Amino acid sequence: MKIDLCFSPFELDELALRDKNVIVIDVLRSSTTIAVALSNGAREIIPVESIENAVKISGSLFGDVTLRVGERNGKMIQGFNLGNSPLEYTEATVKGKSIIFCTTNGSVAMYRSRFAKNLAIGSFVNMSRIVDFMKEVGSDFVILCAGRANTFSNFSLEDAVCAGMMVQKLSQDKTLHLQLTDSALAAQALYKTYGRSIPKMLKSTEHGIYLREIGFAEDLKVCASIDTVPVLPLLVGNVIKLRKDETRSTESASASTTTLSA
Ligand code: MLT
Repeated sequence: MKIDLCFSPFELDELALRDKNVIVIDVLRSSTTIAVALSNGAREIIPVESIENAVKISGSLFGDVTLRVGERNGKMIQGFNLGNSPLEYTEATVKGKSIIFCTTNGSVAMYRSRFAKNLAIGSFVNMSRIVDFMKEVGSDFVILCAGRANTFSNFSLEDAVCAGMMVQKLSQDKTLHLQLTDSALAAQALYKTYGRSIPKMLKSTEHGIYLREIGFAEDLKVCASIDTVPVLPLLVGNVIKLRKDETRSTESASASTTTLSA
């Protein structure tokens, strides 16, 4: 089982992921928000590349069951229903809704991975669920970090450390006979350096510092909380949903009105 890793989707040819098994990671905050939204009963998430596409698609879907959500520079896009704070995606707000999802990096990475054979959305909050899925599939995977636009490197430390944690957990299962590329080994080394305190690491990253500056400090606590939202968001076609068995368990879970505490 070979694990490869891409630190940024910006140079990636969409067709390079055709028929591959892919995990997309955007810790701050798209992957976390998607896990929370689906766990709280959202019907589906449709990642789009641009605000124009978000408006075009949501315009053709029925009004009261569709939400237009997303951010630019971390703040809610004007005229949209929600931003990209996981704390906004409560059961009362999202249950049963189709969510058109438009963010700076996360939704772009997800959209560009749409030709994948299997595509799951990973974060710290659903870490073990993702690792179990990778073991269940049992063949080669590409882990795609959403990264950060408007920096020379497009490198996101939090996404790389999250990917490294997945690699570390997989490498502890000797039955997998893992083959790691240099980028996967690098991410694993970053996890071994920063993984002792995920909350502390998030606070030290470029995007973590920025989110705290614009008033989203509580989001970092949610995004750092390992295995608190154990769901498996899968992209099928252009839509992200939970697997059938997950939906049943989520319905029972959301029936207990579980809400995230920051
Ligand atoms: C992204 O997609 O770039 C991030 O999720 C942005 C954010 O939520 O701050």
